[in-house]
Parts: sequence; C-alpha cells; structure tokens
Amino acid sequence: MSLLRRLESIPGGAESAPPPASSGPPSAPPPPAAQPPGHVAPARGDGAASRASRDQPKEMKGTVEDRLIKELDPKLNVNDRVKVREVVRKLYDKILEEEGQLLPRTERETMFESILAEIIGLGPIQALLDDDAVSEVMVNGPHKVFVEKRGRLTLTDVRFEDNEHVKRIIERIISPLGRRCDESSPLVDARLADGSRVNAIIPPLALDGPTITIRKFPKNRMYIEDLIKFGSVSPELGEFLRAAVMSRFNIVVSGGTGSGKTTLLNVLSSFIPEDERIITVEDAAESQLLQEHWVRLESRKANIEGKGAVTIRDLVMNTLRMRPDRIVIGECRGGEALDMIQAMNTGHDGSLTTVHANTPKDCTSRLEVLVMMAGMDLPLTAIRRQISSAVNLIVQQERMRDGSRKVTHVTEVQGMEGDTVVMQDLFLFEQTGIDENGKILGHHKPTGLRPKQMWRIQEAGIQLPPSVFGGGVKTF
Ligand SMILES: Nc1ncnc2c1ncn2[C@@H]1O[C@H](COP(=O)(O)OP(=O)(O)OP(=O)(O)O)[C@@H](O)[C@H]1O
Ligand SMILES: [Mg+2]
Repeated sequence: MSLLRRLESIPGGAESAPPPASSGPPSAPPPPAAQPPGHVAPARGDGAASRASRDQPKEMKGTVEDRLIKELDPKLNVNDRVKVREVVRKLYDKILEEEGQLLPRTERETMFESILAEIIGLGPIQALLDDDAVSEVMVNGPHKVFVEKRGRLTLTDVRFEDNEHVKRIIERIISPLGRRCDESSPLVDARLADGSRVNAIIPPLALDGPTITIRKFPKNRMYIEDLIKFGSVSPELGEFLRAAVMSRFNIVVSGGTGSGKTTLLNVLSSFIPEDERIITVEDAAESQLLQEHWVRLESRKANIEGKGAVTIRDLVMNTLRMRPDRIVIGECRGGEALDMIQAMNTGHDGSLTTVHANTPKDCTSRLEVLVMMAGMDLPLTAIRRQISSAVNLIVQQERMRDGSRKVTHVTEVQGMEGDTVVMQDLFLFEQTGIDENGKILGHHKPTGLRPKQMWRIQEAGIQLPPSVFGGGVKTF
C-alpha cells in the first residue's frame, strides 16, 4: 500500500504524485478498481494569496508540509508506521535546517506530530484517537471538536483549518471503502481499520459544517467483572444475568444512545456456552466474542449506484437457514424485529438483541412499532402477544448524569393479561444521593421476586443462591 493517495489528499501533494497504486488504512478492504470521480480530496484551494494571511507558524508548517510531500517517496508503505515515522522524521529535520528554521524543541515536536498525522493519520483528531482515555470523538464543523472521556463530554482545543480540511479527513476515512460523501450523498456510515464506528454528515444537511462522530472501538473488551467494578451491575445481578443467558432466556438490552447497550450485549454473549453455534448480525461489527463457534454477519449499504444493499432483516432471515443455536442481533431498529420475535417464538430461544428505548415499558412499545415496520399489517393485540411470549427479559441500561453507565432495571416479561403486557421488575437501581464530585451513589436492589421462568434456570441445572434475589443488598 503506497503513500500516494495520502499524499494526493494533502494540499500540495497531488501535483507531484504519480498515479495511485492502492490505498486504505491497515486492515481496510481493498479499494474498488475504479474510484468515484472526485475521490481525491481537493487541494487546500486557497493558494499563496490566502496563505500569506496566515500567521507565521501556520505558514511555516504549510511550507514544510508541501516540501515534505514533494520529497517523500510515494511508494513508501503507509502500513509500516514505524518506517514512515522514521523517514518523515529525517526529511523533516533536513527541511527545517534548509529552511533555516530555528524552533524551540516543543514547537518542533508539535509541528512534526501534526504533519505526520496529516500524512498517515486523520489529521487534527489523530491524537484524540490515539488517546486511550477518549471513547468518542465528535467534530462539529472545523472549530468545535468534542470528546467523551470517562463518560463526560468536553470541548477540546483541537481545530481544523476550515470545512475543506474536515471534508478531506472524511474522504480519507471513506474512500478506501469505495464510499463517498458529497452533495448527492451527504451522509455516510463507515468504520476505521481498527473497527471504530464513524458517521459523517456534511452541508447542506449539517448546518454547522462537516460533522464527524467516531465511537472508538474499545481496545480492551469489558467483562462482567469490569461492569461490577464500575458499579454498572451488582455481583448478584451479574450472577443472575449469567444464569439467564446460560438457561436461554430471550433477552433484550434496552437503553438510550451511548448508554452501553452494545457493551452489555457483548458481556451477556460471553456467557453463551462454548459448545453452541452463535451467529451475530450487525450493522457495524462491534461484537467481541471469545467463543470458537461464532459466525459474524454484517449488513451492507447500497453502493454508489444504489445497488447491492443487504439489510439486517435479510441477514436475520438468512440466519434461520444456518443452524444457529443463538442469534445475536446488534440492534433492532426496523422490521427485523418481527423476524427476531418469530425466531424467538419458534425454537431459537436464548437470542439476544438491543433496542433503543428509555424504560422497559417503552421497550415493549418500541418493539411493537418496529414489528409494524415489517409491513405485515398484523393486529396490535397479535403483535403484543408475539412479543410477550418471545421476550423473557428486558435489561435496561442508562447513561447516568455523572457519565457512568448502569443497569437500572431487570424486568421479566411474563405474558399478557387482557390487552396488556405483564411485566415484573426483578432488580432495580436505587439512587441514594450524589457525592461531592457529582458521582451518583446508590445500589442495585433485588425486588425480592423470583422470575416466573425460574424453571428455565433450574432445568439448566444452575444453582443460584437465594441471596441473588434478595438475601442482601450490595452498596457502592
Ligand atoms: N458499564 C459501562 N461503564 C463505563 N463505560 C461504559 C459502560 N458500558 C459502555 N461504556 C462505554 O460507553 C460508550 C458507549 O457504549 P456502547 O457503544 O456500548 O453504547 P450503545 O448504547 O451501544 O451506543 P449506541 O446507541 O450509539 O449504539 C463506549 O465508549 C463504552 O466503552
Ligand atoms: Mg450500540
């Protein structure tokens, strides 16, 4: 993989570079043979005139960057980051010396890192992506870049030069995937080579300039022990969830945006016994399972000609022909809910999914709406009946005001009474206060009721100590 496309997308690089050989971040799929017109991001486009108006350090950076790009070997392998760094470093030092630039050490280093990020990384946000404490990066136009760190949102001092600069970075993310983001297709979902989820949307749809949202793929997957340590669940609740997954409860993780649904789904999936065949179906592959017998399916968006889309729904239907022991659907957000409910009701119990909803009650209403989206014109009572017999447990997750994520309800769906779905809380998070640092205090409390489906746990031969359902309360 050559440096070429990288160089082309950096201002000043296009003229000097020979035709592209290949592109893309380290493990990204190979680029399509024919690139869409205009896939090469435009050059800075402001030329010498506006550069003259920039302040001194920016002008110097521009000069050094332009020279570097012209003098770098375009055949250099961008995947070999160590080598690229070494080569760029040597050239950078040489150029600075030839330009007669005497910079303080820290400024020299900052400029080096920033130029390197433009060449082999994602420009100004590369440092944020490299920071392990950052879990999400949000670019709201060129001059406002927010991050989420330890659950809290903060504005950074990172700036892009202008809208074009942000667009170039979007281009860099998506062009190796054969996608595009322009006037005719102004929003796009993509993934970085490391699995991080990216959404980009540009004007005229995004009014404040090109907007990028990156959910970083966690370097270390979370285990139930981590959730217990963070106070997201209590040890007893963890024990119950383990038993529920092992004894094939159909479980829906419900929660708001960024509340930790996918993370919890991963933790729940880790309880699936090793000897079962698991099929995961996702829009963006975020599952991190450890089991050997695991088949991963990922939906596909339509290509540039609008063809070739394969939806989550298509994939869920296909899983039924793949002899699954467990179907794990990353998120139900459309008609696939009907297929999932039907699968759950026809012998594929032990399935897991997530739904975007704020309470367990909302979750069942949301499922009703999603099932209706399948367009089968089923009467509401029939839909409710299907849902109430399919779903056994709703685990409600919430992003709390202090940025922590907690399971707030574990609710059993017990069936129907008349036209109503009967639900029973088994565990609740009870907030007792807020400490001086704004941290939420409280504990997970069993309601004292045993699940109606306790027989499943007993049949699976799992012994749960009585304390799990109320023989003691753990405080955090
Ligand atoms: N229990 C937890 N404690 C602390 N941080 C968590 C916890 N669960 C998830 N997170 C962090 O919260 C962020 C969002 O998590 P996740 O992707 O699981 O949320 P989500 O509900 O699936 O989001 P979305 O609605 O966007 O799909 C991630 O950075 C993740 O590492
Ligand atoms: Mg998610």
